[in-house]
Amino acid sequence: MTTLHLELSPHGYDITVGAGVLHSAAEYFKLDRKVLIVTDTGVPREYAECVLSQCREGRILTVPEGEGSKSTRGLESVLSAMCEMNMTRGDCAVAVGGGVVGDLTGFAAASYMRGIDFYNVPSTVLSQVDSSIGGKTAINFMGIKNIVGAFYQPRAVLIDTELLSTLPKRQISNGLAEAVKMSLTSDAALFEKFESLSFSEILKNIEDVIISSLKIKRGVVELDEREGGLRKILNFGHTLGHGIEAEEEMRGMYHGECVALGMIPMCAPEVAKRLVAVLDKLGLPTGYCGNLDGALAFVTHDKKCHGGKVSAIRVPEVGKFEISDMTADEFAETVKNSILCK
Ligand code: GLY
Repeated sequence: MTTLHLELSPHGYDITVGAGVLHSAAEYFKLDRKVLIVTDTGVPREYAECVLSQCREGRILTVPEGEGSKSTRGLESVLSAMCEMNMTRGDCAVAVGGGVVGDLTGFAAASYMRGIDFYNVPSTVLSQVDSSIGGKTAINFMGIKNIVGAFYQPRAVLIDTELLSTLPKRQISNGLAEAVKMSLTSDAALFEKFESLSFSEILKNIEDVIISSLKIKRGVVELDEREGGLRKILNFGHTLGHGIEAEEEMRGMYHGECVALGMIPMCAPEVAKRLVAVLDKLGLPTGYCGNLDGALAFVTHDKKCHGGKVSAIRVPEVGKFEISDMTADEFAETVKNSILCK
């Protein structure tokens, strides 16, 4: 069992990582009050029930699996449950699931009575290495991803690696893309681990991979909670990645798969070659033959594109990054000249 403390004002919080920790949730979360546990239809029911069994007075709300729950309708269902339970400011919400459940529950907790305690139990690799910490909560609105939300930090996060045992391989790779992202900008040793270990060895060492990723993210969030500067590096690969994700929405590409593609053009050529080898090993895509112009057009309209400029994160060598403004044309040229399109 490993506990990392994230130090923030006005309150920091512990992130506890270990196999089977969910069974001791009441040691880490204050559950002797009203507790709304939010999960989704894709998450094994017993995870939320395990939390419920440790509550004095709890209820499980199950929202439909998928991005559609990050919506005003999803928010309404969580807030309605809070009202129906007559929850007060002293009560709390627990998210048990992936990024959708975490983002939705966190935002509902931030809004209900101007803020109640929120705990997170991420159940996917993607949410365990990235989205469950750092306090970004949001729903999508008018077709724009994460446009309505709040920075609202959880009170504690419990990362039970046993929950990953029910995940399909593609979902594991999806999450590992975010760990690779963090290693490329900030931790050469972790990237070298991705290079030297086989896929099954990476899975055997998943707890170490998660902890290393969390340490990177903690270091970034502690310095720049609200993404004034440094936190932008966590968006490495996401500018083009979000464009491809929007373009591929109907064909169902996963977020991590799109981020994998988005990172390739933003690396120096030597780094890109090493990255492609790692992505191949993890079963992530390394080439894109979809509508690249469509994806690039989306980049120009993204909320992160200010005055026609995008904040580009580039990796000149493994473990290092550069942040610079690029015009949309410069960005498109960089992408088109990269090995992504060869
Ligand atoms: N996932 C990016 C961030 O938390 O800033």
